[in-house]
Amino acid sequence: MTVARCFVTRRLPGPALERLAAEHEVDVWPEPVPPPAELLRERVARAAGLLALLTDRVDGALLDAAPELRVVANYAVGVDNIDLEAARARGVSVGATPGVLTEATADLTFALLLAAARRLPEAEARVRAGGWVTWDPGWPLGAELHGATLGIVGLGRIGRAVARRAEGFGLRVFHTSRSDPGSIALGDLLEQADFVSLHAPLTSETRGLIDAAALRRMKPTAYLVNTARGPLVDQPALIEALREGRLAGAALDVTDPEPPQPGDPILDAPNLVLVPHIGSATTATRSRMADMAVDNLLAGLAGEPLPHPAHG
Ligand code: DGY
Repeated sequence: MTVARCFVTRRLPGPALERLAAEHEVDVWPEPVPPPAELLRERVARAAGLLALLTDRVDGALLDAAPELRVVANYAVGVDNIDLEAARARGVSVGATPGVLTEATADLTFALLLAAARRLPEAEARVRAGGWVTWDPGWPLGAELHGATLGIVGLGRIGRAVARRAEGFGLRVFHTSRSDPGSIALGDLLEQADFVSLHAPLTSETRGLIDAAALRRMKPTAYLVNTARGPLVDQPALIEALREGRLAGAALDVTDPEPPQPGDPILDAPNLVLVPHIGSATTATRSRMADMAVDNLLAGLAGEPLPHPAHG
C-alpha cells in the first residue's frame, strides 16, 4: 500500500478520520471556518486525496493547482460546490454521501414546517421576554397541517422521506418530479399547496426555480420550506413576498449567500424561520457521512471504484 497525502478541509465528528490517518498522511484544516481559497490551493497542491465540504469550491482552477489529486470525497450529498465536468476531464474521481442523511433532513423539514405553521420562534421569544401574561385565545394563531396540502418539489430520496412523514400528519401530498408520471407541473403545485417544500438538487436548471413569478402563484396563506440549496429560491423576491404579506411564512435551512452577512435583509424578513444549514446535523448522521467520505477516499486512493460516487 502506498501512503498518499490527503487534505481534509475541516475536523469531522466521529472516528472516521482515524481510519484515514491509519493508512495515509492526513492534514486536517484546524479552523472552525473553511480554508480561504488561496490556502486551500496551497494545501491541496501536493495532495492525492481531498475531503471537501460544501463550503469549499472545487473548480478547474483548484484542480489544476493539484496535479497529483486523484479523488475528491465531498462531505455532502449535494455536489454543487464541485465542477464535476472539470474533475472528469482531469481523471479525478468524485464521491458524495447519498442516502445517509435522508431521514435527518426529512425530520428537519418537518421541524421547520411545524415551527413556521405554529409560529414557534415568535411564541418562544415572547415567553423568554416575560410576555406570557395569561392563556391567550387569540395569540399566536397558526396553521394546521391536518387536511392541508403539501407540495414536494423534487421527489428524490429526501422528498420521499418527507412524503412518508406527511402521511402521518394527515397532509395531502402532491409532487413534481422529472421522472414520475404521477407528478404534477410546478405551477399547479404552487397554486394548490398550503405548504411547499423544496428537495431538488441545485443545477443550472433549478437555480432560481422559485422566482418572483413562482412566488406570485402561491396562495397568500401558504408557507415555503427550503432544506435543499439556497439558490433554488430568488431570495430578494422571497423577502419582498414576505414583507408584502403575499405568503404566510417561510422556513429556510439554506440561504443565498450562505451564511448571510450582517445587514442581509433576509435576517429581518418577517414570518421567517431561519436556521444555519443543519438538515444533516445529528450525531449519528454526521458521523456516518464522515465514514462514507473516508470510504470514498480510501477506495479512490487504492485505485478502486468509489463506493459512493457523485452523480450529476
Ligand atoms: C448535503 O449533504 O448536501 C447537505 O446539504 C449537508 O449535509
